[in-house]
Amino acid sequence: MTAELEPGAVQHYEDALYYDYTYRRRVEDVGFYRRFVRQHGGPVLELGAGSGRVTLPLVEDGAEVVALEASAAMIARAEAKADESLAPALRKRLAFVHGDMREFSLDRRFNLVLAPFNTLLHLYEPGDFARCFRCVAAHLAPGGRFVFDVRVPSLSELARDPDRVYKARPFKHPTLGYKIQYEEQFRYDPIKQVQHVTIRFAPGEGAPKRSKVHEVLLSQRQIFPNELRALLALGGLELAGRYGDFTGRPLDESDAQQIVVARAAK
Ligand SMILES: C[S@@+](CC[C@H](N)C(=O)[O-])C[C@H]1O[C@@H](n2cnc3c(N)ncnc32)[C@H](O)[C@@H]1O
Repeated sequence: MTAELEPGAVQHYEDALYYDYTYRRRVEDVGFYRRFVRQHGGPVLELGAGSGRVTLPLVEDGAEVVALEASAAMIARAEAKADESLAPALRKRLAFVHGDMREFSLDRRFNLVLAPFNTLLHLYEPGDFARCFRCVAAHLAPGGRFVFDVRVPSLSELARDPDRVYKARPFKHPTLGYKIQYEEQFRYDPIKQVQHVTIRFAPGEGAPKRSKVHEVLLSQRQIFPNELRALLALGGLELAGRYGDFTGRPLDESDAQQIVVARAAK
């Protein structure tokens, strides 16, 4: 791994079982990436592949996928799921790389590079975008596409009082095995354009005595839609299309996410 990762790019991904539990109902994006890969063909390089939420369905569809991921915990879970669920002939079509999307060199090119579900929001500095996007450009085959989705910054969410605690309903934590009280606090850094979310798990009903409060930090760079072209240009990429939802509808001002198709600049 090249440079140290920020705590806000690491802590939320240390418990891969909890990650899968939390995002178990997020399926529309998976359908979108499956359709895109079926239409355009592999091989596929996935950046920040996580626990294989999108990766495994792509391989099940027959795509050849290289899954690059920085978190050892997430890779371990993705590998275990792949070993368990994929037929041997398909399992051979999937390779994992423990690496950093800001600097990688795989010595081959891909028809598609994907970065699903806010992965690029873990690029914080302009230099991070430049390095990542240059690497993407160097790994795209002629005519290849770089496809990713990131949230559209919400001004009302960024304006939240940093002292206010947002509570959600208690739930049984899949790793801890007991009920926890779940809280979040939001702090936006307007200079760096980074939203820091402190996620707090407090022991609830059924927790063993002396269980402690556990906190994790999630930091997400906010990418304003009109900034995107300039960021892509840092790595020699350009916008080829942009959607506002996973049906492929063009982006408009009501959308909470931007689904981006980029290519090497002409
Ligand atoms: C929001 S998760 C998305 C995971 C997966 N793509 C999905 O759709 O479920 C972001 C992922 O990016 C990974 N990540 C963060 N910084 C990274 C970096 N510099 N290089 C590679 N992966 C990184 C995290 O470990 C995490 O698995």
